[in-house]
Parts: sequence; structure tokens; C-alpha cells
Amino acid sequence: MDQIRVGIIMNGVTGRMGTRQHLDRSIIAIRDQGGLTLADGRKLLVDPILVGRNAAKLKELASRYGVDRWTTSLDEALADPNDTIYFDAQLTDLRAAAVKKAIAAGKHVFCEKPTAGDLDEAIELVRLANAAGVKHGVVQDKLFLPGIRKLKRLIDGGFFGDLLSFRLNFGYWVFEGDWQQPNRPSWNYRAEEGGGLILDMYPHWRYVLDNIIGPVKSVLCHGQVHVPRRWDENGDEYRATAEDAAYGMFQFDNGVLAQFTTSWVTRPYRDEIGEWQLDGTLGSAVAGLRDCRVQSRANTPMPVWNPDIPNPIDFRAGWSEVPDNQEFGNAFRIQWEMFLRHVVEDAEFPWDLLEGAKGVQLAELAMRSWHERRWIDIPDLEIPA
Ligand SMILES: NC(=O)c1ccc[n+]([C@@H]2O[C@H](COP(=O)([O-])OP(=O)(O)OC[C@H]3O[C@@H](n4cnc5c(N)ncnc54)[C@H](O)[C@@H]3O)[C@@H](O)[C@H]2O)c1
Repeated sequence: MDQIRVGIIMNGVTGRMGTRQHLDRSIIAIRDQGGLTLADGRKLLVDPILVGRNAAKLKELASRYGVDRWTTSLDEALADPNDTIYFDAQLTDLRAAAVKKAIAAGKHVFCEKPTAGDLDEAIELVRLANAAGVKHGVVQDKLFLPGIRKLKRLIDGGFFGDLLSFRLNFGYWVFEGDWQQPNRPSWNYRAEEGGGLILDMYPHWRYVLDNIIGPVKSVLCHGQVHVPRRWDENGDEYRATAEDAAYGMFQFDNGVLAQFTTSWVTRPYRDEIGEWQLDGTLGSAVAGLRDCRVQSRANTPMPVWNPDIPNPIDFRAGWSEVPDNQEFGNAFRIQWEMFLRHVVEDAEFPWDLLEGAKGVQLAELAMRSWHERRWIDIPDLEIPA
């Protein structure tokens, strides 16, 4: 047989992430290019079934993408032994319960972050998946951004010398919803519905920190609800109960200090919505989502504080662009392809539910740090047998 069909139950694909990144740019793109070629030459063909609450939306989505299978019954979808992977991009609060059902049905699991609303539940998912012997993976898309990959390449090539500090300035303005459409869902602003910027973004920062600098050991964080009144998708006013910005610091065993500002209430004056600056003894880099620029020790200028004259140094001119030197591809699709190969041909896939749980752990400890107004150490995770 030179073809292998993989049935994928895709839950939550009517949402922002589900439709754009996972369906359109990953599974449909893989289908439309004729599947994946496996190491032994066989073709892996993807066969999605769309799952959700709203039949009309699912029907429209299925017809838009030429997908012939959809259902509003997760149980029914899970009961089909021919569909072996369960994917979840539902809103955060619903994820853990659905993933548990999928594990109980013997499905391999691939899901969005955060894997659960709290650490206990995230650990329980790891335990259950390991006990069931299913394969599991969690979206860690920022690792596959061209900017972050260039940063990693610079580290691996020894560009920085000793690493000193890592700073992120991330964010954009999310409209309140009164005079322009809100550009994030309203549940993001309700703590009681699994919202909040820390639970949303710190799972990403955990794997970025761990992979770029090393295992993160301590966190200090302050969160804040800067804009307490917002208007939802129906134009109804509501009170924001979850933070819309977080100001975090992180420590590592190697002495690096990281400082991450993450905000949905800021207006960027920079080249990309997120920029990481990594400073080392031999050079510095500024990486965005796509681009990365460097300045080395040799062309570092020597500024003098003198506000009485116009700034004589064009700081940006002293930096140079890191070339692509490769095709990067969509970050979500790359991970999907790797997970499919992991399931079918046992290829390496390190970003499992345990890595996902570490993200939930950082979010949880950051919130504790904020509420207790102190540094919190981050213990190694232990998964009960
Ligand atoms: N990897 C990333 O970069 C990234 C970015 C944004 C969001 N996410 C994650 O993806 C998940 C979905 O986020 P999103 O921004 O696409 O959200 P969204 O509100 O656009 O979509 C939520 C999905 O869940 C479904 N859903 C089921 N029950 C629901 C209910 N009671 N209320 C509302 N929706 C319900 C919706 O139909 C929809 O398909 C979240 O867990 C979020 O953390 C990941």
C-alpha cells in the first residue's frame, strides 16, 4: 500500500485559530498539496472531520474548504475508530474535558495551548495520555517563527558570547468594542471563562524562554486590568475581570535576566508586534516574528548623553539584517507535519503534554507572583504514575 489515510477530528475549528492556522494553513494546505511523503515513500493523506456546536457554521466552513465530514457531536466523532487523532482549538476552558474524552477513546491528541486552565488538570492530562499509551502534542508555534529561528541560529553559531539579558516588548491595541469591532474574543477578558492575558501568553513564553535561554527557574510578575469596560461581540457592555497586560521578569541558572512586557492595551512603535532583544558580551540581536537584526561588539557605537543637541548617532544604521538562508513555512503547519509523522512513523516530537503543562505552570506561578507580590521559584514537574 503506498497511501495511508489519517482521520483527524478537529474540534473548535470555527474559531480564530482553528480556522486560519489549523484548518486553512495546515490541514487543508497539506491536503491540497497531495499529502505528506513519508520516509518510506508512502503518502500520508489527511482526512479531517470538523466538530463544533453550531451546525450552520460547520456546514459553511466544510463547504468553503471542500471537507465532506462534519458533526456537532464530539462523542459520535470519537466513536469512529478510523479517526485516530483528536485536535482541540476550543476556548481554553473546554479543552481539558474534551482531551480527556479523546484519550479515553484511545485517540492521539494534538491541541492548542494552554492545555488546561490550571496546573493540576494539565498534569492529569499528561498522566492519562501516558497511561493510555497515546501520542500527544501541544502547539508551540512561536518556536517556528522565522525571527525566533534566526535568534536560535545565532545562539548556536556563538554570535552572542555570554548571554546577559533578554527583553520582549509584545502587544497591540485590542479595541474596546464600543466604536470599533473588538479584535479579540470577549472571553479573553473574563477570568471566569478562562480568559486573561497571562494564561493566554505565558504558555508561549515558557517554551520560548526554555528553548532560547535555558530552563526558567523563577518568575516575578505584575498583571493589571487597565481597561475595565469593554463591549462584546453582540455590542453589550461587560466588565473585564481578567488582566489585559502583564509585566514579567524571569531568572535562569546561567545568570540571564529576562524582562517581558505583554500587552493588549498598547500601540506599537516598532517594526513588528513583538520584538525580542537578546544582549550578549559579543553582540546583540533584535528578533521580530519574521526579521532579525544584529549588532556586533566591533560596530557598537559609543553614545554620549547630550539632550542639548540633536542625536548624532543613527542607532538603527549600526545594525544589519540576518539573512533567511532557508524557507521558513507556516509555523503551525510545520508542527502539524511533525506531529503527523510522529503518529505514523514514530518520528521525534518533543513538544508533548508535559511541555504544555510547563506552560500552564509558568502562567499559574506568574499569577501567584502577582497576587503575592514576590518572586516565585519554578519547581520541576512531577508526573504521578
Ligand atoms: N497558538 C496561538 O498562537 C494561539 C493564538 C490565539 C489563541 N490560541 C488558543 O486557541 C484557543 C482558541 O482561541 P481563539 O482565539 O481561536 O478563540 P475563538 O473564540 O475565536 O474560538 C473558540 C472556539 O471554541 C468554540 N467554542 C466552543 N464552546 C464555546 C463557548 N461556550 N463559547 C465560545 N466558544 C466556544 C468556538 O465555536 C470556536 O470554535 C484558545 O485556547 C487560545 O488560547 C492560540
